[in-house]
Amino acid sequence: MEKILVSYQEKLSPETIRPTEAEKTAVVTIDGPAGAGKSTVSRILAERLSFDYVDTGAMYRVVALRAKDLHIEPHDDEALERLCRRLDISFHRDGGGWRVLESGEDLTAAIREPEISMLASRTAARPAVRAAMTELQRRLGQKGRAVFEGRDMGTVVFPGAAAKFFLIADIQSRSKRRFLELKDTSNNLTLDRVAADMKQRDHNDQTRPVAPLRPPEDALIVDSTNLTINQVVEKMLDFIIKKMN
Ligand code: DC
Repeated sequence: MEKILVSYQEKLSPETIRPTEAEKTAVVTIDGPAGAGKSTVSRILAERLSFDYVDTGAMYRVVALRAKDLHIEPHDDEALERLCRRLDISFHRDGGGWRVLESGEDLTAAIREPEISMLASRTAARPAVRAAMTELQRRLGQKGRAVFEGRDMGTVVFPGAAAKFFLIADIQSRSKRRFLELKDTSNNLTLDRVAADMKQRDHNDQTRPVAPLRPPEDALIVDSTNLTINQVVEKMLDFIIKKMN
């Protein structure tokens, strides 16, 4: 296999390395259930590789938020399709993080509300929504050099990705992590509620007929339950190096 992605080491500056053809189009995928640490790990991995980072869950959340604003029912496929066609979703680097805009409006905070999480899980199951988002994600992926995080990145959207990961963790640590993230901004939130919502969303995501959540056959499965973020990232970088060299 052609040697690619050699530029990830910190000691090598990305500016001094000319990427190969394969590097230029390389996509890394990270799938897995909610709260397994995908976003944090994906962001760090993207930084270490000097890649872009695309949070595809945020795209499904934007669809859900706009559908709610427009009073579109989660099963109204025609209205959802029309909505997806006119959405203008963009990601913007903001210091260490990323902001999500739709038609110029910053929706970064609004899409994290628990109500939107649940709604996103429902609208994301609709084939019309999946088709529209898959197309958009592939368009973003054409540029290459990006880490795509989601549920079906390695199975459906980028089956030919350069390296694929499936990140898992037990439900206790996943719900605790999400609870700590949300408790300051969401009123009346309890750990039990977060765990119950998470189980419901896992069930929705795993059992939907289109693009269900499952590990890609050629993915490295990483269980983050007893690992630090750094340990997860290092494992992934090792796998990328082995796979590409
Ligand atoms: O990763 P997240 O929790 O922000 O995702 C929100 C919802 O979107 C989640 O319930 C599943 C769905 N989703 C999806 O179906 N496919 C993706 N590639 C990403 C997210």
